[in-house]
Amino acid sequence: MKSFKAIVVRENDGEVSYAVEQITENELSPGEVLIKVAYSSVNYKDMLAVKQNGGVIRNYPMIPGIDLSGTVVSSSVPAFKEGQEVLVTGFETGMSHTGGFSEYARIPSNWIVPLPTGLSQKEAMVIGTAGFTAALSIMRLEKMGMNPKNNPEILVTGASGGVGSIAVQLLSKSGYTKINALAREESEKEHLFSLGATNVVLAKDVIPEKPKVLGGQKFHYVLDVVGGAVASGLIPQIYYGGSISMCGNAGGIALSTTVMPFILRGVNVLGIDSVNFPSEEREEIWTRFAGVWHIMAQSLVTEVSLNELPQTFEKMKTGSHVGRHIVKID
Ligand SMILES: NC(=O)c1ccc[n+]([C@@H]2O[C@H](COP(=O)([O-])OP(=O)(O)OC[C@H]3O[C@@H](n4cnc5c(N)ncnc54)[C@H](OP(=O)(O)O)[C@@H]3O)[C@@H](O)[C@H]2O)c1
Repeated sequence: MKSFKAIVVRENDGEVSYAVEQITENELSPGEVLIKVAYSSVNYKDMLAVKQNGGVIRNYPMIPGIDLSGTVVSSSVPAFKEGQEVLVTGFETGMSHTGGFSEYARIPSNWIVPLPTGLSQKEAMVIGTAGFTAALSIMRLEKMGMNPKNNPEILVTGASGGVGSIAVQLLSKSGYTKINALAREESEKEHLFSLGATNVVLAKDVIPEKPKVLGGQKFHYVLDVVGGAVASGLIPQIYYGGSISMCGNAGGIALSTTVMPFILRGVNVLGIDSVNFPSEEREEIWTRFAGVWHIMAQSLVTEVSLNELPQTFEKMKTGSHVGRHIVKID
């Protein structure tokens, strides 16, 4: 195979930098399946991966990109055949194993999901890790009793971002009727309503400067992606017996609360991890995205090339991007 294009992150004298480079197959991490990548997606973690002290990449040089979809070029295992369409999210992809911001990727077979019928390679990346995480959050909340039949008040934080925007869309598709989207700016309102939010709540109106021990009970379920002061401020406002799923730290890693919401109101905190979620349970969730959770009509998607990624990362750093960004690998 000739050389091909990939984003390579390097560390020289303690300085991290990245660029589009021409590389060869020998520079890909080992795995049973070689994939011609069609699309990747841009997640918060990908922005951290190219950042100094981002804490995502374990060893340099590295090709980032935690998600990819494409077509199998060669496989040494019977589970995957040449020409088969596949997708990959999470595990070590783009962290310690060369990832999706590349024309080719070599991936261990147990990280790969066959692309379900009804979902294109592009659509799979509109969902990507962000959508998969939104799905896991909703499934955990539903295990704790969230059900459209009870008309619960649900709040989604970081609703203009990747995980949050898809969570709003999936909740709407699932028949929930009280979907509150938390926004930092008035200007986000129109977009959030178009995704399916039934109410938009401004952070300045519900997140106190200092979290209360217990506040008025406003939400039965909170799907949180922001963490930090936002999650700390919301936990005391969850109804008796309600739950908060927590998957992210876009607003900080510290959680400042007391035990009171847990011991007086039975509030549950549900941790969500999409990275090491079991392989054998993934296919069923992706099949839902091809069917009952097919959300492409409402999705706001920006397609960028490998060369345009630096501008996308800059917007993501400040949270000023909207919706999902996918990378078309040419
Ligand atoms: N646990 C897992 O497996 C898993 C998987 C995927 C993602 N995550 C995590 O989930 C979080 C969201 O990921 P994402 O891909 O949806 O990211 P994203 O597209 O950047 O969205 C994050 C959103 O959070 C909001 N936000 C609030 N405070 C912020 C702040 N101080 N700085 C930046 N944004 C802020 C912004 O929405 P508003 O402007 O509307 O407030 C922003 O759009 C990240 O922390 C990511 O690492 C975890």
